[in-house]
Amino acid sequence: MCGIVGAIAQRPVAAILLEGLRRLEYRGYDSAGIAVLDVDRHIERVRTLGKVARLREEVEAQPVPGTLGVAHTRWATHGEPATRNAHPHVCRDRCVLVHNGIIENYETLRREQAAAGHRFTSETDTEVVVHAVYDELAAGHGLTEAVRRASRRLEGAYALGVIDASDPDRLVAARQGSPLVIGVGFGEHFIASDVFALLPVTHRFIFLEEGDIAELTRDQVRIWDADGHPVMRPVKESTVSADAAERGEYRHYMLKEIYEQPRAITDTLEGRLSGTRALPEAFGNQAEAIFVGVRAVTIVACGTSYHAGLVARYWMEALAGLPCQVEVASEYRYRRHVVPEGSLFVTISQSGETADTLAALRQAKAAGYATTLAICNVPESSLVRESDLVLLTRAGPEIGVASTKAFTTQLTALLLLTVVLGRYHALDEAGEARVVTLLRSLPVKLEQVLALDETIARLAEQFVERHHTLFLGRGEQYPIAMEGALKLKEISYIHAEAYPAGELKHGPLALIDEDMPVVAVAPNNALLEKLKSNLEEVRARGGQLFVFADQQVAMEEDDGVTILRLPQTDDLIDPLIFTVPLQLLAYHVAVLKGTDVDQPRNLAKSVTVE
Ligand code: G6P
Repeated sequence: MCGIVGAIAQRPVAAILLEGLRRLEYRGYDSAGIAVLDVDRHIERVRTLGKVARLREEVEAQPVPGTLGVAHTRWATHGEPATRNAHPHVCRDRCVLVHNGIIENYETLRREQAAAGHRFTSETDTEVVVHAVYDELAAGHGLTEAVRRASRRLEGAYALGVIDASDPDRLVAARQGSPLVIGVGFGEHFIASDVFALLPVTHRFIFLEEGDIAELTRDQVRIWDADGHPVMRPVKESTVSADAAERGEYRHYMLKEIYEQPRAITDTLEGRLSGTRALPEAFGNQAEAIFVGVRAVTIVACGTSYHAGLVARYWMEALAGLPCQVEVASEYRYRRHVVPEGSLFVTISQSGETADTLAALRQAKAAGYATTLAICNVPESSLVRESDLVLLTRAGPEIGVASTKAFTTQLTALLLLTVVLGRYHALDEAGEARVVTLLRSLPVKLEQVLALDETIARLAEQFVERHHTLFLGRGEQYPIAMEGALKLKEISYIHAEAYPAGELKHGPLALIDEDMPVVAVAPNNALLEKLKSNLEEVRARGGQLFVFADQQVAMEEDDGVTILRLPQTDDLIDPLIFTVPLQLLAYHVAVLKGTDVDQPRNLAKSVTVE
């Protein structure tokens, strides 16, 4: 994963680079580094273990003056988190490079380069790239040509930012499989892994395509495509404000993003409903013509986005009457599959850059899916650009590594999709009107759930000392239980597992004792009575129950049974309603445990490597 940022300007760039890194830190935070070319063409480099704030302190103590530089925040893949493995990497005081991605053939290249006399100072896959570019520079090529030649030898994924110390007027970037944008300024240009990194300095961006190489000077940007032909890529204006990614008065990004959900869902729905109808054109101009012919749906995603897909399966089959299969992208991409006739291939992704999801999309196209649809939060992402139809979730920037508002806006988008597809199958006008009314009610209902924050904070105290938690749900609440368990383990490091409640007696019941809290998601639906019997099984074995139930559920608090009452809603939107308290529970447990809520250990937000 990792985040990269680079700048070529007429003013000192260190502060711009450090601010860019701070904004990219969600991509990786085990080490960070910066390298700037000073007036004497010396490379001034500072690298630190840990977070960007530490790097900033180091740079304050040891300034790196200069108008051309690159910086990096790392999420270790090859080589442990350590200063020697932090980027930028340098070869013979001449070539400086930052990299996001994985070089798959690095072992072969490393052997060759070591035999040719290169000295390796890190265990990273990246170091072979800096040596390869250096060799081309030493052979007499200019920096752009050197990067082009070196990249021909690379297998895998990369976004690169490269500087040649003997050429202080050029910054070269390359993109293959990892995201990279160019920020266009006046007399200055920038590169970064995403637009947020650069919003304080520009709102104008060029999005590089796969295989592009770009040469940035202070006055000009030139781009060549994968075949080496010069190309013009459009400059696009971003409407996102620089402070959209700020934490404001909230203690953590995650809490801010939990609280943003009513607003985010309002934005997801904006212009996509009309009276009692959902508008198919929200998915693209061709959508309606395509949707008429859809006979089945395949959904592929990773992590939290996968959980959204699992909920959608219940909706697709129950409401729209369409067969629907859902799979994690890392599995889907490596197996043979049968393409059901007339099926729509749907990917779900917050970032639109998740390597496995992108690979699955490409594979699905090759396997014969006629139409692909992306449900995504990032407008210019690879997934969006490579899909036929798109619905942007409009959640706004999500910085906390644990996904919250991205998830509930994905669910909102998937319910919209269910409605527009269902129209041609099992959903009549009255049914559509009912769903649309429920969709419109979501923001207010979620505000009511958020009002329970303090109660949930108190509940959280009972989890702090625990080592394990079991989450139970049935039907479309089973994926919500999975999402609740994922949130808890991600940020509080408590081992949490989710089970469909009916599976309890097939194994997990053996784990139940007084040390195992069991969280049950229990809306008042057709499966409630079944769920209650499952909960009795837990109580009978001394397990401590925490039941998230709605107002109508006839259950009483008791020794060993704590009930949190949620507003009464409709089955259909219960998955969204019940998600929020589980997010808050995980959040408060993590705060009480003192973990790093927004940047949990070992994780990164955007997984652009396999
Ligand atoms: C990472 C993130 C998760 C996210 C998953 C899929 O694991 O930490 O929060 O759900 O990637 O990411 P995507 O951007 O494709 O939704």
